[in-house]
Amino acid sequence: MREKHKLSIPEEREYSPSSTIPNSLPRGSWLITGGAGFIGCNLIKRLLADGVPYIRVLDNLSVGARKDLNRVCNSSEIEISSLVTPVTGDRRRSTEHRGGLSRLTMADQFSSGGFHTSSPVHLTVGDIRDASVCLHAAKDMDVIVHLAASTGVAPSVENPRLDMEINVVGTLNMLEAARENGTNRFIFASSGATIGECQPPIHEELVPHPVSPYGASKLAGEGYCSAYYHTFGRETVCLRFGNVYGPLSSHKSSVIAKFIRQALAGEVCEIHGDGDQTRDFIYVEDLVDAVVKAAGSDVAGETFQIATNKEHTVNEVVRILSNQLQTKAGCALLTTNIGSRVGDVRRNFSNTSKALRLLNWRPQVRLDEGISRTLDWFLTNGQKEEVVSAILGDLEQ
Ligand SMILES: NC(=O)c1ccc[n+]([C@@H]2O[C@H](COP(=O)([O-])OP(=O)(O)OC[C@H]3O[C@@H](n4cnc5c(N)ncnc54)[C@H](O)[C@@H]3O)[C@@H](O)[C@H]2O)c1
Repeated sequence: MREKHKLSIPEEREYSPSSTIPNSLPRGSWLITGGAGFIGCNLIKRLLADGVPYIRVLDNLSVGARKDLNRVCNSSEIEISSLVTPVTGDRRRSTEHRGGLSRLTMADQFSSGGFHTSSPVHLTVGDIRDASVCLHAAKDMDVIVHLAASTGVAPSVENPRLDMEINVVGTLNMLEAARENGTNRFIFASSGATIGECQPPIHEELVPHPVSPYGASKLAGEGYCSAYYHTFGRETVCLRFGNVYGPLSSHKSSVIAKFIRQALAGEVCEIHGDGDQTRDFIYVEDLVDAVVKAAGSDVAGETFQIATNKEHTVNEVVRILSNQLQTKAGCALLTTNIGSRVGDVRRNFSNTSKALRLLNWRPQVRLDEGISRTLDWFLTNGQKEEVVSAILGDLEQ
């Protein structure tokens, strides 16, 4: 049953979590689109640690790579054609029937060696713009976490149509695949960019006015998730992520990952505008915890801000990073200011009290601690060649 959310904002931000919230991890089969990417790999790491028996990744490897996935698991690859087409007529199984049957089917196939592999993670290389690929990939899945996307404001300004095709058509394809295969739980990676320029904190009751094509395409995805909940009964949950940072982000062009890469390579870091623009930076493990809690709750048809309630300027991030780079790596962080980016908002942070109340979720990791862990990861795992090729990749964009 859908619980109507009533928000009192912004003075009283701290709610006590409800004691009745079920947050049990669904142990069935998970499909993670975009699973070879930054958040996907962190999610897989967490799910494996929690004992999820089967994970299927659908990714076209346009950004994420096999080697990224291999950092967190021993995945094996399966062809999309080897996944059997859903049977017409029995496709839209009832909620009650599907939950138990599907889980057993996948667990049985896996434990009986039906997939001829010892790895619980299967990579399927395919594109979410292809409806039949999505339909096949979602077969027998209990939970879909839809992360695959054209990410970020800049690429969407450069090519709004491509952004739309991946983020809107791709999301519709995944929702259709969920409907056709009888998958109930559908977690959609949305973004604070849906709201656009407004007086923060952002919260779920604000009327969205996206500034960038990226914000518009994510908002469209939220709209379809809502429609598939109300019309087709899919248990969709939209999570509007803040600015996510953390380990396994060596390919990202977000500010923390990019500045660490550039500083370690002796490059000058470019700050867009005066650096006093604010963002809500969330550590990836906290974010992944929100995804897991959303998947395990019985809340559906809802949207949540998933961030930290804290506003930090880019200049603050630079200060923290600069100190830590000096201490941990004896390395200076050199910066220069360049023009502001089209489509970027000035201030951005979120009120996350709804997520606390309905999902029993709150972030745990402070910014300085999160940056410290991220820097440690780069220092330990960031291969020099990767750092250099990532920087060359940025220059080519
Ligand atoms: N990282 C953040 O700060 C942030 C903030 C807000 C929202 N999000 C959203 O979270 C999700 C994951 O972000 P991320 O940071 O892990 O990004 P990422 O780029 O690291 O991962 C995205 C993955 O999707 C895959 N992909 C892209 N287009 C595809 C397509 N057409 N078909 C199949 N796979 C495709 C890429 O190869 C990549 O592995 C995205 O939906 C993004 O919009 C991220």
